[in-house]
Amino acid sequence: MKKHFIILSVAVALTFSSCGNNAGGDKSIAQKVDSLMSLMTLQEKIGQLNQRDFGWGAEDVPELIRQGGVGSLLNCAPERVNEVQRIAVEESRLGIPLLIARDVVHGYKTIFPIPLAQACSWDTSVVKAGAQVAAAEAAVSGIKYTFAPMIDVTHEPRWGRIAESLGEDALLTSRLGVAMVQGFQGDDMADADRVAACAKHFAAYGLVESGRDYNSVFVSEERLRDWVLPPFKAVADAGVATFMAGFNELNGVPVSGSKFLLRDVLRGEWNYPGMVISDYFSIDQLWVQGYSDSKAQAAADGINAGVDMDMMGGGYYAYLDSLVAAGEVSEAVIDEACRRVLTLKYQLRLFDNPYTDMSGRDTVLYNPAHLQMAREAAAKSVVLVKNVDKTLPIKPDVRKIAVIGPMADAAYDQMGTWCFDAEKEHSVTPLAALREEYGDKIIYAPGTKYSRDNSKEGFAKAVAAARQSDIVLLFLGEEAILSGEAKCRADISLPGAQTALLEAVEATGKPVVTIVMSGRPNTLPVELSKSDAMLIAMHGGTMAGPAIADILSARTVPQGKLPVTFPSMVGQVPIYYNDYRTGRPADYRPTMIDEIPLEAKQTSMGFCTYWLDAGISPLLPFGYGLSYATFEYSDPVLSSDTLTMDGQITVTCDIKNTGDYDGTEIVQLYTRDHFGSLVRPVKELKDFQLVDIKAGEDTTVTFTISPDMLEFCNADMRMVAEPGDFTVWVAPNSAVGAGKGFYLGE
Ligand code: GLC
Repeated sequence: MKKHFIILSVAVALTFSSCGNNAGGDKSIAQKVDSLMSLMTLQEKIGQLNQRDFGWGAEDVPELIRQGGVGSLLNCAPERVNEVQRIAVEESRLGIPLLIARDVVHGYKTIFPIPLAQACSWDTSVVKAGAQVAAAEAAVSGIKYTFAPMIDVTHEPRWGRIAESLGEDALLTSRLGVAMVQGFQGDDMADADRVAACAKHFAAYGLVESGRDYNSVFVSEERLRDWVLPPFKAVADAGVATFMAGFNELNGVPVSGSKFLLRDVLRGEWNYPGMVISDYFSIDQLWVQGYSDSKAQAAADGINAGVDMDMMGGGYYAYLDSLVAAGEVSEAVIDEACRRVLTLKYQLRLFDNPYTDMSGRDTVLYNPAHLQMAREAAAKSVVLVKNVDKTLPIKPDVRKIAVIGPMADAAYDQMGTWCFDAEKEHSVTPLAALREEYGDKIIYAPGTKYSRDNSKEGFAKAVAAARQSDIVLLFLGEEAILSGEAKCRADISLPGAQTALLEAVEATGKPVVTIVMSGRPNTLPVELSKSDAMLIAMHGGTMAGPAIADILSARTVPQGKLPVTFPSMVGQVPIYYNDYRTGRPADYRPTMIDEIPLEAKQTSMGFCTYWLDAGISPLLPFGYGLSYATFEYSDPVLSSDTLTMDGQITVTCDIKNTGDYDGTEIVQLYTRDHFGSLVRPVKELKDFQLVDIKAGEDTTVTFTISPDMLEFCNADMRMVAEPGDFTVWVAPNSAVGAGKGFYLGE
């Protein structure tokens, strides 16, 4: 019996091998899929929709593969990939290869900065390079499918997964998300160093209420279409291979059961052809959420909504055949899902090359070129947010440098969340890099042992080190475990005794440079006010240390800008740049809490939208970042003050580098639509350019504005650009700049 199976499997494999270099003949993938499906039983088709985790609870998996009951594996160790693939290809009836998947989000072994940090670079080449390196190291390890990019727009610093996001703006997230897909998939995702990507989490996961993970989301369809969907549409248009449906409900409907999102929008409006996978258990969770009244119903609701593959829930495999028999689910729906899974496998040429050649793996992992790219990415992801009296860069004649803080030598934590496969032994910390560069000029005293450490035992040594130094480098932040999935914080200040440590060191009167290595925007009002200079480095990955040293020494001039607003206190959250004017804008300086006279009368302070104890402005605005160069912007000049619906206008701005260093400026284009059928944000990012300007030189930057850039979703759910008054800014960040008016005509 076994012999016949093998003969049939080989025959099937030869017949249906996908198009490599025409190896399987010129039949299209669609024809091969149809031919293969014509041989499959219903249960075998359902088997393709079943993804199992091979990292735990997998004792039954090898036999299930043999029976054709598994289409994909998650978390399979590299040393077992070819073993399980052989079971699928040589021991199952039809020999359909497995899709091997893993979360390779910002690196596999060589870890790049967390995505939120990479977004600080605003540089698509940085983000693409990171994905390319991640793909190369993952693919040679047997992984052909990664669950990235995560393109959930979010302005929720309490949410642990903000670390994984590309920030609060749809345009920036769209451009960087497309670059990530291009990096992961390349021109042909079947190439030996490329993988299939996954746009996640569809959709609106980044707007979870109160920043609590897995929480509910309530957002208008207009805002969904203006903020949340554009990055997904952008990567769909860029050819992302798959989508992932998320955990959250959207306005009461779990997105993993949402026909509106998965059929009406994704398939109907966008005509997206790729496979949709659930999130981990998110099909089963339809029952937990109280949407499906049984696990069997959850399987029916998931597949009928359009989720093709069930990640780890098991409900599809357990119930779909009986649901088909009961008429709850049509076989056509199963066929549709199976077709997408098999199409992806053919596109990856898994039928031709199911096995991974790992012979060269050691030369790929932690390849010096990869490490250098990670270093450059981390340096470009650092944001300089304060630098009084040119505290930075470190002066060449410096005698002693005090290196203090729990993040100065945190090899594991600097890599951040979502790096399952990296080893801290390869991680180069700021302390190691600075010792390499400055030798015995370095005096190291951590002050506290880890970010949550409340002990002040180490303060005396830290203060003594500061006293002996010319400058203090204070590395503060969060351990990696304090951000990421299910790692939300209601208090986003620096944990432990870090703020007290800063105050103790600052009291010595020495110049203090604070470097924040964290997975989220922390509230840093004391830290910012008591530091002479501050770098937002976030979790910078394997090469965070050398990258920060490059910035401190000016080998790399900081270019980063914040992709997310930094609140002054958590009570301001949610706070974001593209908010609305309201009927009582804080156009005047409101009275702050400590300025209110005793027994002040109810009407004595005016009425505008602000917080008595926090004002109206964030600590650091979206798009903010300084450089060692200094850039002066002219007022914008428009080619016309009228834009017609069929036309376009240009806006130019002269930017002069008045500083002593060559620099790269991230020039941002914002517009405001003053009146609309729905009220419009006070500012919206519409374009940006990275511009290199040498010290003392200037350049003219030109942007084009066309009506399609001014569209928004109106109350009829139509994307429209409405005639009226607009203002345009060409600016260094979202909070400043000279505006120029123009009119959008009919
Ligand atoms: C997790 C995450 C998702 C990830 C998946 C597989 O729960 O929500 O982003 O890709 O499960 O690990």
